[in-house]
Amino acid sequence: MTSIHAFWLAGRQTTGETTFDVTSPWDGRLVAKAAVPTDAQVEEAVAAAYAVRDEFAATPAHARAAALDHVSRRLVERTEEIAQLISAENGKPIKWARGEVGRAVSVFRFAAEEARRFNGGEAQRLDTDAGGQGRLALTRRFPKGVVLGIAPFNFPLNLCAHKVAPAIAVGAPIILKPAPATPLSGLILGELLAETDLPAGSWSVLPVANDKMPALVQDERMPVISFTGSDKVGYAIMDSVPRKHCTLELGGNGAAVVLGDFSSDEDLDWAASRIATFSNYQGGQSCISVQRVIADTSVYDRLVPRVVKAVEAQVTGDPSDPKTDVGPLVNEDAAKRVESWVDEAVKAGAQLLTGGKRDGATYAPTVLADVPADVTIACEEVFGPVLTLKKVDGEAEAFAAVNDSKYGLQAGVFTHDLQTAFRAHRALEVGGVVIGDAPSYRADQMPYGGVKQSGVGREGVRYAMDDYTYERVMVLTGLAL
Ligand code: SIN
Repeated sequence: MTSIHAFWLAGRQTTGETTFDVTSPWDGRLVAKAAVPTDAQVEEAVAAAYAVRDEFAATPAHARAAALDHVSRRLVERTEEIAQLISAENGKPIKWARGEVGRAVSVFRFAAEEARRFNGGEAQRLDTDAGGQGRLALTRRFPKGVVLGIAPFNFPLNLCAHKVAPAIAVGAPIILKPAPATPLSGLILGELLAETDLPAGSWSVLPVANDKMPALVQDERMPVISFTGSDKVGYAIMDSVPRKHCTLELGGNGAAVVLGDFSSDEDLDWAASRIATFSNYQGGQSCISVQRVIADTSVYDRLVPRVVKAVEAQVTGDPSDPKTDVGPLVNEDAAKRVESWVDEAVKAGAQLLTGGKRDGATYAPTVLADVPADVTIACEEVFGPVLTLKKVDGEAEAFAAVNDSKYGLQAGVFTHDLQTAFRAHRALEVGGVVIGDAPSYRADQMPYGGVKQSGVGREGVRYAMDDYTYERVMVLTGLAL
C-alpha cells in the first residue's frame, strides 16, 4: 500500500482531509501520497508561529545551535534513504541526490556555527560629538518576524534547508511550503526537526496548494517571504506585497566564458568537461547551470568539438542508476517546452550540434551554435539540458555578451590571468563570478543571489540570517566612556 506522508503543523505530525499523488518523473510510478492541510490547519500553523515569535527569538543560542546540529547529524545518518527519496520524487540522478543531502548537512552545520557567533552586538561610542557625551550605541539584530519560505522542486531538500536553517539560527519562526511536485524531502526535514526541542509553533512544513498561496502571501503575520522559483512568480509575489521583506532567488541563464589565455589542451579539456557536466546536471534544472558558452575566437574551434564530445559522453537514463548523469525533467510538459524552444531556434537558423531529441520527460543533452539573438532560447532561462555557443573577439566583447541578458545570477570565467579575473569581477552584472570553473559552483556558506531579473536579496546561511533580521540600536546614557 502507498504510504501517506503527513505534514508538520506547529511541529506536530498531522494529516488533513485530502492527499495528492507524488509521482516519479522517470517512470510515472506513484512514489507516495502527501497529505494536504486544510485552510483551518494552515491558519492554526500561522497563528502558532505568530504566537511563539517572541519566545523563539529569546531562546538561547546554544539551544538553537543544538537543534541545528542535530538535524545535520541526522541527515548524515539518513543520507541514503533521503537521497533515494529525492531521486524518486524529483527524477534527479542518485549521485546528484546524494550530493544534495551532503550539502544540506553542511547548511545545517553552518547554521549551528553561525547561531553561536551571530549577534554578539556592536558597540559604537557616541561621544565623538559633544551632544553624545557619555553615550554608547549598542546594536543587535532581531528577527523581523515569521518567515514564509516557498521552496522550488529542483533542490527539494537543500533549498528547503536554505530557508529553514537560517530562520532557526536567528530564532525566527518559519512556515515552509515545499514544491507540489517534490514535497517529500521537505517533509523529511520535518521529521528531523520534530526530534529537537524547538518550541512548538516555531516551524511547520505545509504542502499548501499553489492556488492557496496568494492569501498566505498577504498574511500580515508573516512579514518576511523567502521565495525560490521563477521570475514571473517571484516578482508577482513582491508586487503583491510591496511592504513586506521579500528575498527572491529567481532564474538565470548562466554564462561560461572561455578566454584566449585558457588555451592549452589541458585547459580546454577541463573547460569542456565542466561545461558539459554543469549544463546537464539535474537535467539543466538549476538556476546556475551553464546555458551560454561564450568563447574567444582564438580557442573557439578547438573548444567546440571537445564540448560536443563531453556532452555526448553524459549518460542519460534511469536516475536510480549510479552511472546516470542526466535524468528526466520534472515532467513531460517541461521537456516539451524545451523541445519547442530548441525547434524554434533550429528553424530560425541555429545549428544543432548534438541532441535535440525528447523521450517522454527526458530531453537529450543538446548543443546549439549560431543561435539567432531573438529566439526564445537566446533570451529566456531554458531550465533544461541545452547550451548555446557563441564566438567573441576578446575579453570586452565576452563580458558584454554575458551582460546582454535580463538575468544576472552567476557567471564562470575560464582564465589564468588575475587581472582579467578582477576585471571580470568588476564588469559582470551578476551576483557571483567563478574564475576557472563553470558558473554552477555554489558553496552553501557564500552569498548567493542575483541582480536584474535574477532576484533580490541573498541566501547563503549567514546572509539569509542578515536578511531575516534587522538592526535595533540601544543608546546607553551617562556612561564613563
Ligand atoms: C538554484 O537553482 O538556484 C540553486 C543552485 C544550487 O543551490 O546549487
